[in-house]
Amino acid sequence: MSQRILVTGGTGYIGSHTVVQLLLQDYEVVVFDNLSNSSQMVLDRIEKITNKNCIFIEGDVRDRAALRSVFINHNLDAVIHFAGLKAVGESSIIPLLYYDNNVTGSIILFEEIMRAGVRTIVFSSSATVYGDQDCAKYHEAMCLSPINVYGRTKLMAEDILRDLKRSNVNMQIAILRYFNPVGAHFSGQIGEYPLGTPNNLLPFIAQVAVGKRPKLFIYGDDWDTPDGTGLRDYIHVDDLASGHLAALERFQNDESLLTVNLGTGRPYSVLEVIKSFEKILGSKIPYEIVGRRSGDLAEYYSDPSMAKKLLGWQAKFDLDQMCVDTLRWQKNNPNGYEDS
Ligand code: NAD
Ligand code: WQD
Repeated sequence: MSQRILVTGGTGYIGSHTVVQLLLQDYEVVVFDNLSNSSQMVLDRIEKITNKNCIFIEGDVRDRAALRSVFINHNLDAVIHFAGLKAVGESSIIPLLYYDNNVTGSIILFEEIMRAGVRTIVFSSSATVYGDQDCAKYHEAMCLSPINVYGRTKLMAEDILRDLKRSNVNMQIAILRYFNPVGAHFSGQIGEYPLGTPNNLLPFIAQVAVGKRPKLFIYGDDWDTPDGTGLRDYIHVDDLASGHLAALERFQNDESLLTVNLGTGRPYSVLEVIKSFEKILGSKIPYEIVGRRSGDLAEYYSDPSMAKKLLGWQAKFDLDQMCVDTLRWQKNNPNGYEDS
């Protein structure tokens, strides 16, 4: 009997890639999403990749009635909670929306999970919960001190889950801290389509690569790093997705609360990323060095050893593959899912 998984935020970037892998592993999937940052067109693309369907329900995790009917109408075994807002810069401008969406929305979802008697929750957390540490290699036992509103919303949701586990020991809870998700499914059918100007490096470079933008602006080359540009732990979104399936499978023999980093442990600088794209393109990526972006750190990357130890999971894809897959998605879908 296949397990039925509720995926909140499942039409989003990471959610859609995870839904593909769930379907290919014969899970049944119910996607719940308010489409505030995604398109329903992704469902057709998922079917094209997997030749399978998932159930889609449009709704907001803050809508208790809508959520309750999902749990009543679908015999769910677990919930993967992706739904939320994720832009660090924006979170400082509209903090209440971030607290409402990411914290209140999570509380309502967790309450409905408990009410329905569902035992398993996999939660999308972020490396931003670590904040600015003394050392750049982050491990799960470090103290957590987020430096922005978005990171604080993620830490609050984590703390709620830890308290939930303390009060309900039979709950199976996995907290997955993503570093820098990038790339796209190798089919070119699904990927990340940031609305407006991309905040993140790889989507921005991809738009420069296809001529959608004239050049990249590098936020500082005077950081205390080997080439002066920022170092980050980029992880292929499909590696991230497989980490979620590994977390679900782990509960079969270990019900303790799981908190792991999902990263490669191998940081790359902005200039190294540019070089990888230029190697693939066979042409230069124009860029201009500008001032540092507020809130940026020089470098941070994961210690991925806990995920390896507890999940038997490690990232497989290297930077070149991340860039190849990012470019294919960009070239095939210059206007995201509107091209469907
Ligand atoms: P995304 O915006 O592509 O996906 C989020 C999805 O959730 C979207 O489809 C959106 O429509 C939906 N959504 C938002 N608020 C909702 C609500 N109230 N009710 C129902 N649906 C709602 O983002 P993503 O990159 O796929 O991120 C997924 C999760 O992973 C988020 O929780 C994010 O904080 C976390 N995360 C992302 C990154 C990253 O760099 N992309 C890094 C670390 C953690
Ligand atoms: C990477 C590097 C920039 C854009 C963010 C969020 C984090 C998580 C992942 C949600 C940095 C440089 C970037 C550009 C540049 N999201 N850069 N020019 O900031 O490490 O992490 O996304 O959980 O919370 O903070 O990723 O891709 O924005 O930046 O020079 O146009 O590229 O300075 O060194 P970041 P990023």
